[in-house]
Amino acid sequence: MSAPLPVELLDWGRPRLRDLPWRRTREPWPVLVAEVMLQQTQVDRVVPRWERFLDRFPDPVACAGAPVGDVLREWSGLGYNRRAVNLHRCATRVVALHGGLVPADLDALLALPGVGPYTARAVLAFAFEQDAAVVDTNVARVLARRAGHRLTAGEAQALADGAVPPGQAWAWNQVLLDLGAVVCRAREPRCGECPVADGCAWRGVGPDPARGSAGVGGPQSRFEGSDRQGRGRLVSALSDGPVPADRLAEVMGWPDDPERAGRVAAGVRADGLAVSCGSGYRLP
Ligand code: ADE
Repeated sequence: MSAPLPVELLDWGRPRLRDLPWRRTREPWPVLVAEVMLQQTQVDRVVPRWERFLDRFPDPVACAGAPVGDVLREWSGLGYNRRAVNLHRCATRVVALHGGLVPADLDALLALPGVGPYTARAVLAFAFEQDAAVVDTNVARVLARRAGHRLTAGEAQALADGAVPPGQAWAWNQVLLDLGAVVCRAREPRCGECPVADGCAWRGVGPDPARGSAGVGGPQSRFEGSDRQGRGRLVSALSDGPVPADRLAEVMGWPDDPERAGRVAAGVRADGLAVSCGSGYRLP
């Protein structure tokens, strides 16, 4: 049978928390930047880039005041470049509507571009120490396994909400993220080391209940040869200067398929990652 996560998990997890730089601040903008980066990029790769990004754009005013192309250049290599455009839009909105301060309110956060239920609650818990429950892919996996069956997004959020010990949301959520990342791992979970194996319905035996559960995500689709790869190549080339239309196909890695290059490049522009420049493109 599964049982609610016990508050004692905090005693196990607190002394084991990974020492990550964004855990040493409660400033909302750095926390928001970290969470947007961590949405789709691994912790080790985020660490140096988070520090560099904040040196360059230390607050929403600095970010909003820069051309979005500068933010895209600073983002290069992190992947999923739309996040950089959204972060710039976030900064612009925070400056326009909230006096340059990231809001401490769930609905106001959810209204920011690229900020979903996970990122909004991460900012509430990790910057403002409000009693919010953060359900990222790691936590969604822990909850489904514990329940012993797939969960809807609403069920996972409700279970997580019910488990937050009042006044301790910062540590509680960080401990849960680490439990998922270090013990209740996607592959080869370490059930023998799990401090809350009692009360877990799954315990590593039989089909994994996290598979297909909301928010857990499946294996990433193939990057090699994908549109995403071509998009990334184009943004990377644009970081060095404009790309004329007749060089698009080559730059995107599809020298024999200019039709595909043109179509995918138009999508890059529609997403705000490029603007027209003559018959080609440049960074915005
Ligand atoms: N993944 C998402 N948010 C995180 C955080 N605050 N610490 C570690 N990993 C994370």
